[in-house]
Amino acid sequence: MTSSLFKKKDIAELLRYQSPLKKELTTFDLVFLGIGAIIGTGIFVLTGVGALKAGPSLMLSFVLAALCCLFAAFCYAEFASTVPISGSVYTYTYITLGEFLAFIIGWDLILEYLLATATVSVGWSGYLVSFIEGIGIHLPQALTAAAGTYANKTTFINLPAIFIIGVITLVIAMGIRQTKRVNNILVAIKVAIVLLFIVVTIWYVKPENWTPFAPFGFFTHSGGESVGILPAASIVFFSYIGFDAISSSAEETVNPQKSIPRGILISLGICTILYVIMTAIMTGVVYYPHFADYLAAPVSYVLQSVNQNWMAGIVNVGAILGMTTVMIVMFYGQTRVAYAMSRDGLFPKIFSKINPKTDTPFTATLITGGICALAGGFINLNVLSELVNIGTLTAFFLVSIAVIILRKTQPDLKRSFRAPFVPVLPIVAALFCLMLIAGLQWQTWLRFLVWLLIGVAVYFLYARHHSKMK
Ligand code: ALA
Repeated sequence: MTSSLFKKKDIAELLRYQSPLKKELTTFDLVFLGIGAIIGTGIFVLTGVGALKAGPSLMLSFVLAALCCLFAAFCYAEFASTVPISGSVYTYTYITLGEFLAFIIGWDLILEYLLATATVSVGWSGYLVSFIEGIGIHLPQALTAAAGTYANKTTFINLPAIFIIGVITLVIAMGIRQTKRVNNILVAIKVAIVLLFIVVTIWYVKPENWTPFAPFGFFTHSGGESVGILPAASIVFFSYIGFDAISSSAEETVNPQKSIPRGILISLGICTILYVIMTAIMTGVVYYPHFADYLAAPVSYVLQSVNQNWMAGIVNVGAILGMTTVMIVMFYGQTRVAYAMSRDGLFPKIFSKINPKTDTPFTATLITGGICALAGGFINLNVLSELVNIGTLTAFFLVSIAVIILRKTQPDLKRSFRAPFVPVLPIVAALFCLMLIAGLQWQTWLRFLVWLLIGVAVYFLYARHHSKMK
């Protein structure tokens, strides 16, 4: 009875699996895919909240979050080079820790990707509103933000967020796939805009804005919430999420053993450098408390504050396009994990039922889109992004632990990429994840716990009895 909870997938069998998917992606494509999924709401929106929490030391928060991601990225890279099969952490956990935890982490990934799409839709909405205001169209604020977004303003629903999720859902359900070419072009535009921002604004940095550098220190409480470098890192951690999605493309990559580790590490490295420079400039140009009134579009605010309105318009367009690719990748990630779980019998069949006309899980995509639109339309950004972060940090934590376990249980397995300093590095990665989880609000822990408990109930009431592994 108990042993069945921990039944594991056979790694040799998985390695023999011949994927029907076409292998087309190269290291170059993966780097672009990574940057495509990474640069989005985090840098374009959450930097405002981050600056309020950490002041100019926000740049250190970005370094801290990057370190956590880097350590976890090594673990992802080792797994992806060893087991180049879709399903990401869900599959890695099924091999090492058994079915129950695999289900829970799959459930967790669903939360991550679903809410990440919703979070990015809220960021997208902020930039859309700012953009169309620039061309003289004003949307009522009550209809462009969820209730409780602003302390002193009444808001009801985020209609632009619901609109973009609707569009993306339809596009994905219809089977119009995001081609590498489109992704690569959009990513090139995104990176060009970030570089342009740096070149245009660096001249306006006033070093006196960097003092006090860390007004709230590393971690403290102020006005009923946690502030400082750590709490800001726990929030801006969101900016890096996405490199993990590269590992889901294992079955579509020409040489996954080599390309996936490279794709993960290079895209993460490039984004870290860009982010640290950008936040140093943002807090150097604008004195950090001023971000309070411009939380929806802080990057564009920095440009407006130095009278570069033309450039603010360009950044808005870049952010809108950039966030669209993030949503597409995240939404795909969600459908892929649900598909893998459904294929294994752990999730209802509808999630792996392919519509012959569109070649996509059509109905499942519509259901997912509906849930996502409700989240994007009615929950405010901070709540959403913190939930995504705790979900992702939990996945990173498990990958780190799983690397150590697989090294012990299958020491002779061929690993094209080996994470350095095992077990020290994965242990440090796991501790970093716990530290960033600690920096989140306790309400987030509670919401996450409720989600996990629902997952446990679903496992025992449904998944366990429908599992294809006997
Ligand atoms: N890293 C992605 C973003 O910031 C999720 O939008």
